[in-house]
Order: sequence, then structure tokens, then C-alpha cells
Amino acid sequence: MTSSPLAPPLTPGSAPTDAPFTVVSTFTLWLWVECHPYLSQASLLSHCRSVGVCMTAYSPLGSGDRPWASADEPRLLDDPKLGAIAEKYQKTAAQVVLRWQVQRGVVCVPKSVTPSRILQNLQVCDFSLSEEDVRQVEALGRGERYIVPAVERDGQRVWRDAEHPHFPFHDAF
Ligand SMILES: NC(=O)c1ccc[n+]([C@@H]2O[C@H](COP(=O)([O-])OP(=O)(O)OC[C@H]3O[C@@H](n4cnc5c(N)ncnc54)[C@H](OP(=O)(O)O)[C@@H]3O)[C@@H](O)[C@H]2O)c1
Repeated sequence: MTSSPLAPPLTPGSAPTDAPFTVVSTFTLWLWVECHPYLSQASLLSHCRSVGVCMTAYSPLGSGDRPWASADEPRLLDDPKLGAIAEKYQKTAAQVVLRWQVQRGVVCVPKSVTPSRILQNLQVCDFSLSEEDVRQVEALGRGERYIVPAVERDGQRVWRDAEHPHFPFHDAF
């Protein structure tokens, strides 16, 4: 039997007879959503757990460098409650946020261009938050979505597409 490192993809109804991969009978579904302590996505996470879907968080640190952030908005990583928890564990606010997600079973995709922060963001497996501290982080939730296109209307910052019939973010999920 020959095997090619560039085997063609499976198509519906085709069986791999000469392919260097294994066909599995179970697979994992992933849902990639914005999720951080200011948008904890508790109901969505609970639903994902109930149907065996793994939730993955983008912008898990609150995306502080997004170009449309307003100067006066509260920055997640400067939240004094997070700071107090971080101090207690001798960790940073970012590590507390990432650890909180790990403990609730959410996969995180933090972004950093700073080598020391990339390393820091990986060092979240050598401590555990107490149940009370997990609850404290959860309690920071304020339904704050950052990754939605917004525009200025009548002096107010509003979601650009909020009136579109398929705009998804009016739902609890
Ligand atoms: N699928 C989608 O629709 C979608 C939407 C948004 C984002 N994403 C993806 O999700 C990933 C992360 O999202 P994001 O970049 O918006 O936000 P993020 O990871 O929540 O935040 C990135 C910001 O946090 C800073 N940071 C990282 N680690 C830190 C630490 N340990 N201490 C302090 N500050 C820290 C970064 O600074 P430095 O870089 O300066 O270190 C940067 O300013 C990216 O890969 C992005 O492409 C996907």
C-alpha cells in the first residue's frame, strides 16, 4: 500500500483506502465566541456543555488594543477586583482571567506580541482559583461585547448592524 503525505480530502460517501489518516467515529464541535469576564457567556457555556460542544474564547483578555476602544472605557485587565485576586495568588490579572477560563473548561486564544506576556499566558497551570474567586470573576459580567462593528449616531456609540433582521446579538446567546 502506498501512502501520500498529501492525501486528497474525504468527500461525502468516499472511504479512505489509501490515506495516512484514521477515520474516527466521534468528533468534537467547537464554538468560537467572544468571551471574557465582562462577557462571561454563562448561559451559552451551559448550553454548550449540555450538547457536548467545546467553547473557545476569542478576545479573552478584553482585546484592550482594539483600534475602536474608547479612551474612557473600563479596561478589563485594570479591573481592581481582578487586580485584588491576582495579588492574592501572586499572578497577573491576565493569568487570573485565563485560569478562570481553564477552570470552567473554556479554551482561550489570547493574543500578544510581547514575548514575556506570551510566556506568562502559558503559565496558568501551576495554580487554581478557589470556588469563591471563580464566582468573583464570574460576577464581573456586564454583557460587554467589544467585537461588534459600531458607529457614532446622535452622539452615541451604537452597534452598526443592530437593526438587521439577522443581527445575532439581541439573543441571550
Ligand atoms: N473569530 C473572530 O471573530 C475573532 C474576533 C476577535 C479576535 N479573534 C482572535 O482572538 C485572538 C485574541 O483576540 P484579541 O487580540 O482581540 O484580544 P485579547 O487576546 O483579548 O487581547 C489582546 C491584548 O491583550 C494584551 N495582552 C496579552 N497578554 C497580556 C498579558 N499577559 N498582560 C497584559 N496584556 C496582555 C495584548 O498586548 P500585546 O500584544 O501588546 O502584548 C493585546 O493588547 C486573536 O488571535 C484574534 O485574531 C477572533
